[in-house]
Amino acid sequence: EQHLYEIYIFVTLLIFSIKNISVNIATWGTPVQSTLAYNWYAQNALDGLSFKKPSSSCSSTDNQTNPWWRVDLSSVYRVSRVVITNRLDCCPEKIDGAEIRIGNSLENNGNNNPICAVISSIPAGVSSTYTCNNMDGRYVSLFIPGDSRILTLCEVEVYGEVNNSPHTVLARI
Ligand SMILES: *[C@@H]1O[C@H](CO)[C@@H](O)[C@H](O)[C@H]1NC(C)=O
Repeated sequence: EQHLYEIYIFVTLLIFSIKNISVNIATWGTPVQSTLAYNWYAQNALDGLSFKKPSSSCSSTDNQTNPWWRVDLSSVYRVSRVVITNRLDCCPEKIDGAEIRIGNSLENNGNNNPICAVISSIPAGVSSTYTCNNMDGRYVSLFIPGDSRILTLCEVEVYGEVNNSPHTVLARI
């Protein structure tokens, strides 16, 4: 009994400390994008690599109307910020106007979820941070409205915490 109690305390404290460390929760998510350009897979935006070789470390859609990329975090998180790394090899302006959307709906492929930020521009190879003020959502999407657009992402990082707060667990002891 005493042993179980100790384990319980340990796990609770572990969860509590993990909660307070900034973890990129997108790493474990499942990504998908509207179309695929060559081998620029949706997964490449979550591989922790930005520019080793653009085609193998960045994601990209085809040239299309309303391109999007989305990660399913598999449960609801309270998102504090999203970090986007733009391509280094060329044409950084292609990211201009991309919307970061966070929420629980898959309506319009998740692109009707509330907007955290609209990217005005990101210089080539730069990682820009967008503050989302604890928006709740299971899905984080990047969406560029318009014709003849290409959505390329070299890295997407999502920081936040699980929505059902471990404080509740702690309070029960
Ligand atoms: C997409 O294709 C159209 C038509 O070929 C072209 O005019 C446009 O510049 C392309 N867009 C991008 C972002 O390359």
